[in-house]
Amino acid sequence: MSAENTQRIALVTGANRGLGLEVCRQLAQQGITVILTARDHQKGEQATQQLLNEGLQVIFKPLDVGDDASVHQLVQDLTADLDHLDILINNAGINFDFQQQTLEADLKEVQHTLNTNLFGAWRMTQACLPLLRKSQHGRIVNVSSGAGSFEGPRGLQEQSGGLPAYGISKAALNALTVKLSRSLQETSILVNAVCPNFTATYPGTAEMGARPIPEGAAAIVWAALLPDDGPTGGFFRDGKALPW
Ligand SMILES: NC(=O)c1ccc[n+]([C@@H]2O[C@H](COP(=O)([O-])OP(=O)(O)OC[C@H]3O[C@@H](n4cnc5c(N)ncnc54)[C@H](OP(=O)(O)O)[C@@H]3O)[C@@H](O)[C@H]2O)c1
Repeated sequence: MSAENTQRIALVTGANRGLGLEVCRQLAQQGITVILTARDHQKGEQATQQLLNEGLQVIFKPLDVGDDASVHQLVQDLTADLDHLDILINNAGINFDFQQQTLEADLKEVQHTLNTNLFGAWRMTQACLPLLRKSQHGRIVNVSSGAGSFEGPRGLQEQSGGLPAYGISKAALNALTVKLSRSLQETSILVNAVCPNFTATYPGTAEMGARPIPEGAAAIVWAALLPDDGPTGGFFRDGKALPW
């Protein structure tokens, strides 16, 4: 544990399960104080207790990234308790809509997906920015997906008309990453998008070739712990650049 990391503070959205929970664990194992957030209080408290039982320094805060009032309340609480925030991981994501086609897509469902996967990250970034600006080493990680890539395998073109809400939400999240990084280029805040790759966060997916959760989470943590001269405005998987 480095002396500097003992003062570092990270916040992870959608962290009661899956990749978010494991990202909290890996960051806390580095000696970083982690704010684990979840929209369901009970699930969030249980996940936090699990990490506390492992001897890690984790604090639970309720947060629904799709809800302005919830985000506002969280940031009000944080501002009362903290003087800075070093790492924001926009991990909360929903609706891998492989059963939908673009032409017939339920647009209310698409809007709801965008409200979480795109606007959730945007809302959180805007709200946390005053605290992030007070960090010497601010990092924003948007957890994206190769499904939002124009070129990559299993990207927008290969999905044909499928996965409309999810694929478009992640492509837009990638675009947001670029715009945020340009807007923050005069600061020490690095903003990157990461694809964790197909990861076994649901039963049965390991059998379909998904990799273990710690591996997917490590790809996200890599971008959270970039050195000050690390990249910004990029899209990465396992530390390697991906095509947009
Ligand atoms: N697993 C993969 O293969 C894979 C691949 C590429 C990208 N990703 C991306 O990685 C991220 C995490 O994926 P995962 O597999 O860990 O998903 P997951 O297990 O379904 O976890 C998603 C988390 O987001 C939370 N969430 C959903 N809507 C929310 C909201 N409005 N406010 C706050 N939290 C909310 C969920 O809370 P509840 O438990 O309350 O629903 C859950 O904790 C997502 O952005 C996903 O798109 C995953």
